[in-house]
Amino acid sequence: MTFEIRDRDAAGRIGKFTTKHGVVTTPTLLPVINPNKMVITPKEMKKQFGTEMVITNSYIIRNDQKLREKALQDGLHKLIDFDGPIMTDSGTFQSYIYGKIEVDPIEIVEFQRDIGSDIGTILDVFGTPDQTKTTAQNGVNETIKRAKKSIPVKQDMMLACTVQGSIYPDLRETCAQELSSLDADFFPIGGVVPLMENQRYTDLVRCILAAKKGLNPSKPVHLFGAGHPLVFPLAVALGCDFFDSSAYVKYAYDQRLIFSWGTEKLERLTELPCSCPVCTSFTASELRALKPEECIREIARHNLYVSFSEIKKIRNAIIDGTLWELVEQQATANPYLLDSLKELRNKEHKQWLEQFEPISTQRAVFYTGDHTIHRPIIYRLHERILHRHEPQYDTSVVFPEGNKPYSRYYANEIQKIFEKRPVNIVIDSALGPVPLELDEMYPFAQSIFPDHIDQETQKLTQKLFKEFTKKTKIIRWTGNETLKKISAKKHKPIDCDLRKISAVADMQFGNSASTALFNGTLKIVKSKTTEKIRNIYVDEKHVVSMRAEDGLFTLRIHGGKRLHASLPFPKLRVVIDSDAVPFVKNGKSVFAQFIIDADPQLRPNDECLIVDQNDTFIATGRAMLNRMEMMTFKHGMAVKTRESI
Ligand code: GUN
Ligand code: ZN
Repeated sequence: MTFEIRDRDAAGRIGKFTTKHGVVTTPTLLPVINPNKMVITPKEMKKQFGTEMVITNSYIIRNDQKLREKALQDGLHKLIDFDGPIMTDSGTFQSYIYGKIEVDPIEIVEFQRDIGSDIGTILDVFGTPDQTKTTAQNGVNETIKRAKKSIPVKQDMMLACTVQGSIYPDLRETCAQELSSLDADFFPIGGVVPLMENQRYTDLVRCILAAKKGLNPSKPVHLFGAGHPLVFPLAVALGCDFFDSSAYVKYAYDQRLIFSWGTEKLERLTELPCSCPVCTSFTASELRALKPEECIREIARHNLYVSFSEIKKIRNAIIDGTLWELVEQQATANPYLLDSLKELRNKEHKQWLEQFEPISTQRAVFYTGDHTIHRPIIYRLHERILHRHEPQYDTSVVFPEGNKPYSRYYANEIQKIFEKRPVNIVIDSALGPVPLELDEMYPFAQSIFPDHIDQETQKLTQKLFKEFTKKTKIIRWTGNETLKKISAKKHKPIDCDLRKISAVADMQFGNSASTALFNGTLKIVKSKTTEKIRNIYVDEKHVVSMRAEDGLFTLRIHGGKRLHASLPFPKLRVVIDSDAVPFVKNGKSVFAQFIIDADPQLRPNDECLIVDQNDTFIATGRAMLNRMEMMTFKHGMAVKTRESI
């Protein structure tokens, strides 16, 4: 079994999950198969919806003599006639629904192994939301105990060890940590069905985040019992890779149709607002007129079409870099879901999420509401503005929001000011204070905010503005008359290009990076068509290129050498095993299994310095993973090599 990251956005990822029965692309949905009654067979699912993996229940199979014997004799894959990977659950959910069940926790794992399940699940103890902390703690202890006893019998079956802990984040996190220290392969987050049934999405967010904080980031995470696409985008953004759905069939029995925004009773639908093959072959009244069996089957098919199309939408958003936009849009469909986004204003959560947030994506940040300002990319930006950027002069001239890039929009005004004296130019933007030098850097230039901004955003950005400008005298630009307020001072001509590249380098690489990179005879080459900075040479050596898309630097070998020589270890470093050194010198990328250590500050898509174990500089590259991921993943690309020594 292997799991690797292929693409990413927010804390979500496109994963490649390899099993004995084939490769699965995540995030994905495992339809629940009832071996007693298949409304739609797994084979049909594969053909119609592209289902790659399914889940069924070993407890049900074991309790039915016929099914049990067939499963033991012919194997699970024959039993349900599916040649892709199959996950099995253990009976935990039945014990939650029916009370005590007759099964031994180890026997049920052995049974799953013996029938050839690809991923078996331990008999975890379902922690309900109404439990006291003591009861929840006891359940967690028993779950961990059973996980420890189950691991020695799993053999070559993958084992799913469920994170429990009721609604107590600290219990969830320690449960996750303890399970992560075992040789487990797959981590469901359990005990959340009652939260979803009661639309307690804020508690759900807390449970997912607490579990994720404690889990090994290289392992697949499954949100147990989340079958409604309403929660998929948010759960994926927080790092869930798998979902299972019995909802598609349960709702069908109840004549309810799943949509991305919720469910609708068939009897209340005049039209079918969907273009899946079911909804294009029947009108609402035709669907109602079907025989009950047929009607259930058709609704179940519609439900799966919709569910898988939501999964595809999410995967596209990850590749596009628009997952947060999708999360925020989706949340407006349901007030409880919208409320749950408020949980993400919590600083601790922002700090955790920021570690997984790519440095930039191909798409602009779209404002969707008062949550946008709390997004990890903006949180990072605000932190860096305060800690990696120092206003240079005693006076700041502040311009109101304008067209982007600001340096072009306010070019005439700025020229007049700079003729008088050097000052800091700051734009009081919707996103917060923007120093002029950074006006083309992601996401300042690559963000779209409406004219009318909510109060929460205004409050937050104004607080930041005050903090940012507190050491300087502020002059607000209100028109050409403002020039009179700016006293003239004898000064050398201002080199705006140098100010720009220095400010970007410090924001991107850390405080002393600009000195390290640009100390020497500077030559800045600009694009003839756009006049944007493209390549920077120091002492006739190419040190960095500036990317037009995000206004950030690509590190060339001479730039890498300079940063390596002046930034202390482990800054920007990725330390690789000596076995990998010759390959990297040949331009090959670094795979996760060859990583020894890395700078904890590195973020996905960051430029980095590839070094050997003696900190000898070998190459520059682009990090695909953060340090925690580099240290735990055993497969997949960790650093894309750019230029080697
Ligand atoms: N199905 C839905 N919730 C759960 C859970 O918490 N544990 C297990 N094993 N299965 C589930
Ligand atoms: Zn449909």
